[in-house]
Formats: sequence, structure tokens, C-alpha cells
Amino acid sequence: MEKKIVVGVSGGIAAYKSVTLVSLLVKRGYEVRVVMTPSATKFVSPLTFQTMSRNRVYTDTFSEEDPGVVSHIDVADFPSLVVVAPATANLLGKVAGGIADEMLSTVLLATTAPVLFVPAMNVHMYTHPAVQENLQRLRRWGYGILEPAEGLLACGYTGKGRMEEPERIFQFIEDFFQGRVFLKSPNPASRGLPQDLAGKRILITAGPTQEALDPVRYLTNRSSGKMGYALARAARERGAEVRLISGPSTLLPPSGVERISVRSAEEMYAQVMRYLPEADWFIAAAAVADYRPKVFETQKMKKKGESLLLELVPTPDILKAAGERKRKDQILIGFAAETEHLEAYAREKLLKKNLDFIIANNVTEEGAGFDSDTNHVLLLSKRGERKDFPLMEKTSLAHLLLDEIIKGQGEPK
Ligand code: PMT
Repeated sequence: MEKKIVVGVSGGIAAYKSVTLVSLLVKRGYEVRVVMTPSATKFVSPLTFQTMSRNRVYTDTFSEEDPGVVSHIDVADFPSLVVVAPATANLLGKVAGGIADEMLSTVLLATTAPVLFVPAMNVHMYTHPAVQENLQRLRRWGYGILEPAEGLLACGYTGKGRMEEPERIFQFIEDFFQGRVFLKSPNPASRGLPQDLAGKRILITAGPTQEALDPVRYLTNRSSGKMGYALARAARERGAEVRLISGPSTLLPPSGVERISVRSAEEMYAQVMRYLPEADWFIAAAAVADYRPKVFETQKMKKKGESLLLELVPTPDILKAAGERKRKDQILIGFAAETEHLEAYAREKLLKKNLDFIIANNVTEEGAGFDSDTNHVLLLSKRGERKDFPLMEKTSLAHLLLDEIIKGQGEPK
């Protein structure tokens, strides 16, 4: 990948930190073009960025200095990555709304490169539902977001909203160019993603299960579905036909993915057994209850006495059953959610369930496992390969896991 970057600067006081970012990038051999919004030029002069980047700085869509090109398209087509730092609430809102009314937002609409936003704003602006919904929408489309840090803000408030330090942004960029993090272009016209799963039928489970006690109560767990949905989206983007069997989750199904909604482990088992014969790969990311109440009370249970004993019975082990039925040409990938002895317990599950790969996460670790947008996992294969991935966004991790599985599956079984 060519080390070409567009740094977008929108109008916040953190714009001064982006001067350091550009300097770090240029020193490390990146070719940098800077695009500034008119408000950004009130904080830092374009001349400062021009000096640091040793390139022309773009501030005006209509300033066409080179008659041989249309400048906003020329800039949009130039980079392997766009980084917007700082990304103000206004700029994020414009991109989420498809508005292109100055040079930076126009470039962002026209580019097919992956884009990383580094938001910076007052804490109350950051927590406003408009900003939060815009961020969610941008994430869903595939934009990368480097969350703001907490601390004393330039406006005098203390809280979340401070732009990440240039060194941290620089590290993310280095990780991206060295393939340690994955960011895809939100624009479908991008040539970025290989269609290396075209023709594959992939069955994925995600989310929790709910095991009913009575019409109003159930036993469940903290799974949000984010890991399984990220895998479903990534596999679909790479050309696979994806069927997602999901326990209750608030997430929207990724576009082009067929979602089948279930509640209990038994319902999930029935749907997996139904579709497993057609699948080339089965990825079990769901957090399936191991036990369910023995009796389902058809009426709401009444409060009686001091204590209540619940009798639980085992649910079917879906992945184990899939392992028992596994065809030679099928690839089975399980997860292991552990709180101790991560590798040893994961290896045990790999063997016991007859899997090709297992993805182990320590769910007590900060930022890993249940409900977070990030995860830290260890991938083990039945042939003895072992790969420890750093803590990263589940959306990026999903692609890197698919890369490894594609690499590993071609070899002799
Ligand atoms: O959904 P998120 O909030 O993003 O969280 C992600 C996650 C933590 C749920 C995910 O990364 C994960 O670890 N999923 C597996 C959770 C789990 O149930 O792990 P386990 O170690 O208990 O089970 C091992 C494997 O057997 C899993 O692939 C599981 O799907 C499968 N299993 C377990 C029990 C059962 N009855 N049937 C199964 O198929």
C-alpha cells in the first residue's frame, strides 16, 4: 500500500495538535496532503501545514490551481487513508448527512479510501444524541473512529471530548499500513476489499440466548452480538453468502446478510442443524446458555417463601453437535469465552468439539469479550498455529480473523 495520506482538519482548537501529527508522518516517509475547513484556518494557518507537509494545502473547493485536474477529485483519489483530526461535531454531522459544502466534506464524499475520524469537542456536545447517532451511523458504514480521551478540555470542562494525542493517532496509522488493524472504505465503489470469499456459504451464530423461566423472566448473558455481526458483515463484504442465526440483539443485520432470529439455545440448535448441511464454514460466535430451567412455568411465578430453588438442565451443545456431523470439506470455527487458563481451555474445546479453529477471548479483560466495540483474541488452529491479535475494534478484527482462516484452510487437513 502506498504511504499516501490525506489529513483533514476541521475547526477545533485541537487543530494545533494535527501539526505534530503531520510532522510525525512526514518524518516517517508518508506523503501527506492537508485539507482544511474554513473554520480550521481560524485556528492554524494553512501555511503552517504547508510547511510541515511540504505540499499545497487545500482550503477552497473552487480554487482550481491546476487546470489539468479537478482538485477535490484529485485529492480524494490520492490517498490510501484519510485521517480527519480533529473531527468536530459539525463535520461528523455533515458526513453522516451526506453534505458536501466545503473542500473537506466534499473530499470525504468523493474518496474511496478508508477514513479514520478523530473526534474532539466539548463533553456535552459529545454526549448529545445527535452526535452519538451520527457516530453510530458512521461506524455502521465502516468509518473508523478513534474515541476521544477523557480529561480537562480547552473549554474548561472535564470529561470525554479531548482529541487523542498525535502519537496515538500516528501509531494507529502505522498499524493500519502494517496490516495490524483493518479499516475498510465506506464507499462501495472502493476497489479495496478482495472478494476472496465469493462462492462460500457461511453460517454464523451471534448474540446471547434467553432461557425462559415463565412468561416474563429468563436467564441470559451479556453478549451484544457485536462480534458475530462484525464477522457476518466482513464475510459478506468479501463476497460470501452469509446466514446469521442471532439471539436477541439490538443490532441491525448487516446489509445483504440473511438473519434468522431465535431466542433459546434449543431454537438456535434447530436452526443451525437446518442450515449446517449447506454451509462451507460454520462460525459459532454466540454465547449460548449451557443450562435452561427444567420447567417452564406457563403462568407468572408468584413470590412465595424466603428462597427459591431453580432446577436447571443442560441445553444442546450446538457446536459440538456440528463437530460430530462435520463433513471433510467443512470448516468449523468456535469461540472460547474464558476467565482463566485461556489457551489451555480453548485448546480443550478445539479438540473436544472437532473444530478447525478456535478464537479465545478472556472476557474479564478491559475492552475484550462481551458488549465492547473492541476485542483481544488468540486464534488457535487444529494444526497448531497460534496468533495473538492486539486489542482492536471488532469490525477490524473480523477481517483479520477471516484472513487467517482463509490462509489456514487451504493446507492439508
Ligand atoms: O456478542 P459480543 O457482546 O460481541 O461478545 C462476544 C463474545 C464474548 C460473546 C464472543 O467473543 C464469544 O466469546 N462467544 C462465545 C461465547 C461462549 O459461549 O463461549 P463458550 O466458551 O461457553 O463456548 C464455546 C463454543 O461453543 C462457542 O463457540 C459457543 O458458541 C459454543 N456453544 C456453547 C454452548 C452451547 N450450548 N452451544 C454452543 O454452540
